[in-house]
Amino acid sequence: MTGGRVRLDGREVLAGVDLRVEPGDVLAVMGPNGAGKSTLVKALLGLIPLSGGRTEIYGAAPARFRDWKRVGYVPQRLPMGGGVPSTVREVVASGRVARQSRWRPTSAADRAAVDRALETVGLTDRARDSAHLLSGGQQQRVLIARALAGEPDVFVMDEPTAGVDAASQAALAATLRDLTGDAGRTIVLVTHGLGPMESFVDRALVLEHGHVVHDGAPQTTMGAAG
Ligand SMILES: Nc1ncnc2c1ncn2[C@@H]1O[C@H](COP(=O)(O)OP(=O)(O)OP(=O)(O)O)[C@@H](O)[C@H]1O
Ligand SMILES: [Mg+2]
Repeated sequence: MTGGRVRLDGREVLAGVDLRVEPGDVLAVMGPNGAGKSTLVKALLGLIPLSGGRTEIYGAAPARFRDWKRVGYVPQRLPMGGGVPSTVREVVASGRVARQSRWRPTSAADRAAVDRALETVGLTDRARDSAHLLSGGQQQRVLIARALAGEPDVFVMDEPTAGVDAASQAALAATLRDLTGDAGRTIVLVTHGLGPMESFVDRALVLEHGHVVHDGAPQTTMGAAG
């Protein structure tokens, strides 16, 4: 993203952000409530249009980007409202959709990836339950599992551990550490504190009022979980 600007309701929420994420980067996006963190990650993915500047995903403008199986997005909240209730397994399996087509329906590899993702977030025994009946922290883990199931190259996670208990946070941190190790995945995650992720996050971008006020090594004060 170069000079990325976003206006919402006539207010500049992103005020010219330059951000380049390299393959293998593990980047934490931090800053106070309302700083523009969620807006930034949505704009990076083309979910919110820029009012100025430009952004690319693997070299393509978001509107022209086609290879969505390379990207796993964990939104800050489950956009679940109305519609048909889905089971936990169905929501997680939807993370495989970008890998499927009319010509290649659900395969054994898809089912195995969904099983692994459910296991990783500790929801195997809730797989048949209705996702909207789960607690907030459990729903967050469903969203994480959905992204894991897609086996993307880059994870974009908006406060994946907000409202998630300490044990589940530690389990997620261990999973992410594995993804960044030999697997070499790229991770962009919004968080209020690095907590157990401190050991493998190598870069922190701090936003305030839509401006980047820090881009570099995480600072020690960022360690607290939140
Ligand atoms: N759809 C919208 N219309 C108008 N203003 C919006 C909209 N979405 C967000 N905003 C405003 O943009 C600013 C940044 O919001 P954003 O959600 O990006 O913040 P954030 O850094 O993710 O905060 P949090 O830590 O609470 O998640 C806030 O002041 C918010 O009120
Ligand atoms: Mg946010």
